[in-house]
Order: sequence, then structure tokens, then C-alpha cells
Amino acid sequence: MQLITITGGRTLHGRIRPAAAKNSVLPLLAATLLCRTPSRLRAVPPLADVATSLALLQSVGAKAERQGSDLFVAPGQDLQGEIPDYLAGAMRSSVFYLAPLLCRVGEVRLPLPGGCKLGPRPVDIHLAGLAAMGAQVELEGIAVTLRRRGPLHGVDFALRLPSVGATMTLMMAATQAGGTTILRGAACEPEIRDLANFLRACGAHITGAGTPVVVIQGGKPLQGTAWTPLPDRIAAATYAAALACAGGEVTVTHCAPAYYAAFLDFLQAAGVDVARQDTTVTLARSPARPLRGGQTLCANAWPAFATDTAPLAAAVLLTADAPSKIYDHLFARRFACAEGFTALGARCRTVGRTLYMDGRAALHGAAVTAPDLRGGAALLVAALGADGTTTLRDPGHIRRGYADLPGEIRRLGAEIG
Ligand code: EPU
Repeated sequence: MQLITITGGRTLHGRIRPAAAKNSVLPLLAATLLCRTPSRLRAVPPLADVATSLALLQSVGAKAERQGSDLFVAPGQDLQGEIPDYLAGAMRSSVFYLAPLLCRVGEVRLPLPGGCKLGPRPVDIHLAGLAAMGAQVELEGIAVTLRRRGPLHGVDFALRLPSVGATMTLMMAATQAGGTTILRGAACEPEIRDLANFLRACGAHITGAGTPVVVIQGGKPLQGTAWTPLPDRIAAATYAAALACAGGEVTVTHCAPAYYAAFLDFLQAAGVDVARQDTTVTLARSPARPLRGGQTLCANAWPAFATDTAPLAAAVLLTADAPSKIYDHLFARRFACAEGFTALGARCRTVGRTLYMDGRAALHGAAVTAPDLRGGAALLVAALGADGTTTLRDPGHIRRGYADLPGEIRRLGAEIG
């Protein structure tokens, strides 16, 4: 259990660069298994989920290791499809190994994946799409086993809803299926385009990634490549939220504002000065200037307001000059951090999927616990604007998505131990 102490009241100043995006790196690592030759992912931060992914790759027979700041994966010829319980349960992203192992090995068994407890997170769309391509799906208790007799075949498949993970799973499988696959109602997040671009660099034929209709001509042999994953737009939004709560002036570099435009628009509406250039954003706020509330936000699939930034927006709105509310369309328990916000002195409550905040809170230090990855980051950020010292107990959630969030915010001038 990590204990993070945050003493509020210091403004933030300086420049900060987000690392590679967790939500690109994790599927990219799984996708390297589709290739006959090794791949290299450049400049990947030492996140807990990355370490879990390397262990998972090793457990199925690949050579996978960190070499300096890069990750190196050599899939080899002797892969096996049994994913150990403790690795599957450690992160949601174990689901990304279904398609590559089904294609390479012919059979894969996955104990149902873990990850943040954000409410029900079924994998029915992943399974329905793979079944439509010819996989046999067997659900027994808490595990799923997929088998194929011959190669998978291309399919015209409409996703029930635009799931990021299922779009990635089906795109990966389709590269190995015979014929053409058309995915309709696909998710459009930037990380989907990143995965598609990686697969294309490996030899796959994919068009339309980043739009709701993705077309994949399958059956092309893939060769590994060196790849630099996208910068982390959620980490960029986290730094921007920290600035909004603490005040000061911070420039977020090497991450195009378009990747987190909805969050920047929100901060601007809340009264933060936001200056966007090509790949940098400079944010400024005087701590004396109150934040503007009266906002209604709805988190949904790209390009809407990102669900992973919803708790961060809440942290900003707790002290704003009027009540606000945020509805999360994707996850039933997105706002488990509300309990921590209340302990910090905020007046807020969840009703269904909506978090209501009264605003005008005078936050004070308290002992709080990170309930999940983004909720933990939001409590850290909120504590920057609180009077006194907050103790944030984190049972490992924050390290799953940020290599060293306390250290990064400390280097901007915050008092964090
Ligand atoms: N869903 C289904 N069936 C499925 C798949 C998804 O009903 O087969 C539902 C989910 O229950 C959820 C909605 O669809 O209600 C969206 O889920 P999606 O599949 O899009 O999310 P994911 O792939 O599980 C990724 C990110 C999440 C991020 C979401 C939404 C990774 C590793 N995770 O999850 O990131 O919140 O997309 O953008 O890419 C995080 O980084 O903290 C995080 C939770």
C-alpha cells in the first residue's frame, strides 16, 4: 500500500511531457504476438500494467523484456494459449490476448479479466465477433476458452456498441482471417488508429481505423516492427486538471491538443486560460480567480468527453462557484472517488451514473483511499487545492496508469511526499 501525502496551497509551474499512452501500449504488446519476427515499442513508461503484460507474454512462451526505456517482444514459434489466473485477474487488458493467441495457437483459455471496478465490464462483443469469424466459444465458470478448427474467416460484423477493446480484438483477429472483414459501429479513439497504424507497418491491410467503419483485408503475414506509441492524452488531461486545481502556469508538451480537446474545452469553460499550439498547451489560472461551475458534462465514446477524464473534471468542479453534474454513459461506477471528495470537504453525491456537485467547497486535508486508477488520480489532484495535508492511501491503482504521478506533480512545485 503506497501512502501519498499532498499538502495543498502551492501553485504549479513548468513544462511536462506525457509518456506513451497506457491504452495504446497494452494492446500493442498483445498485437506483437501476431508477428513472425520481433517488435520493439519505444519509450514505454514502467507502469504496473506494462510489467503484468510482459509477465503475461512470457507465460505464453514469448521473449518479452524491457531494454532501457524500450520494450522488446520476440513471439517465437512455441506459443501456448493458457493464460494464468493471476495475470488475467490483474488487469482488464488480458482480454487483448484472446485474438492473437487464438490466431497463433488455435486455442486460448482466459480466466475473466480484472482491472478497475467501474461496474459490469462484459466481453460479449469480443466473443460475438470472434465467434462470427469462426471461433468456438466455451464459457465455463469464470473462464472462457476459444478454439478454431481452420483459419478464421472474414466477416461483416456490427458491434452492439462502440467498444474500444472489442474493436481492437476484432481488428487484430481480422488481420489473420481469410478474406475481408468489415467492422461497423467501431470505436474511434486515437488508440485504435495507433494500433491499426502499427499493424499496417507490420504488413496488414486496414482502412478506416478511427472511423465507425473499419475494413481489414486479412491473411497477410505480419512482420514485427519498431513503433513509438501515442502520447498519453489521459495523463495530459491529468496534468491540466492539476494546474486547474492548484493554480499557476504549466505547459503540457508533445501531446496534440486535439487528443484531449473536450477536456481542454471544459477547462476553458471553467475559467482556466488555455493556449493551444500544434503539440503543446499552456494552461494558466490565478488561484485567487474562482473556477466557474454550472456545467453539465456527459462522458461517452470518442470524440465526446472521455470517461477516464470524468473524475478529473469532478475534482476541478468541487470548488467552482456553482453546482455542476457529470453523467458517465460508459461505466456504472465511474465515481467511486465521490467518497474521498466528501472526506475532503466537498458536497457531492452520486445518483445512478451521475455525480452531482454543489460547488463552492472549501476543501481541507483528510485521509482518503484511491478506489481505482482515475479516481485515485482525481483525489490527488483535488488535494492540491485543499487546505492542509491529505493522506492518499493507494493499493496500487495509480501505478497501473502513471509511472510516478506524485513525482511528476512534485517537480511542477507541489508539496507531495
Ligand atoms: N462493453 C460491453 N461488452 C463488451 C465490451 C465492452 O458491454 O464486450 C461495455 C463496457 O462494459 C463499457 C463500454 O462497453 O460499459 C465501453 O467499454 P470499452 O470496451 O470501450 O472499454 P475497454 O476497452 O474495456 C478502454 C480503456 C479504458 C477506457 C475505456 C473507454 C484500455 C486498456 N482501457 O477500456 O481505460 O475507460 O476504453 O474509453 O484501453 C483507464 O485507462 O483507466 C481505463 C479504464
